[in-house]
Amino acid sequence: MLQEPNGHIDWIDVSELMLEQAKRYLRETNLEERNKVISFIEMEILDYLSTLGDNSLDLVIMKYTFEHIENIDQLFSLLSHKLKKNGRFVATLSSLSPQLKSSSTNARFLYNGQEFPLDETREMTDGDTFTIRFYKQSGNPSAGHLEGAETTKYYHSENKMKDLSRKYNLDIQVGDWKEIEGVSQGNLEQLSLGVLVLRKR
Ligand SMILES: C[S@@+](CC[C@H](N)C(=O)[O-])C[C@H]1O[C@@H](n2cnc3c(N)ncnc32)[C@H](O)[C@@H]1O
Repeated sequence: MLQEPNGHIDWIDVSELMLEQAKRYLRETNLEERNKVISFIEMEILDYLSTLGDNSLDLVIMKYTFEHIENIDQLFSLLSHKLKKNGRFVATLSSLSPQLKSSSTNARFLYNGQEFPLDETREMTDGDTFTIRFYKQSGNPSAGHLEGAETTKYYHSENKMKDLSRKYNLDIQVGDWKEIEGVSQGNLEQLSLGVLVLRKR
């Protein structure tokens, strides 16, 4: 999309710092020309979508952000109004599994704000939160946590997404991105990443 922009792109984030990083990314990858068709907007995504007219969006891409949204009922509702017919919403999902392990090589995970034993898992249900606390050094928890890198996300089950897609009359595909029809695999075949695609009928 950034290689061959056609039309106009609104780039939304609540964080000014992240928008600055996005601009730097475009500069450093020689895509600065694309700034001509991009508006960087510091705004909460549901607030932003509310400002748009109905049937005005061809495509919405939400990368590594879906789990930051608590009220996905409102997100689906807004998309059902603001997307054009056949318009799509594509979001990456941090995990398709309800199972939360207490740690990985890079981070410690908290279930609903609480630490739990390292050899256990927790089964998440809709509305639960999970917190990621990154280690300063990968594979070395005793080096401590990276300050300011802690993030809390909401767990949304596949069933809830499917229920909401029915409620708002959206076609849905959810799964590992390699299973999603029409996604070209390119050189990313090794990457395991959950994806949610909604299409307005
Ligand atoms: C993991 S970062 C991903 C950033 C970027 N999309 C990327 O792929 O590099 C998650 C981003 O979501 C933003 N965010 C979280 N909740 C948001 C919301 N409700 N509306 C808009 N942006 C939000 C945060 O500020 C943060 O920059």
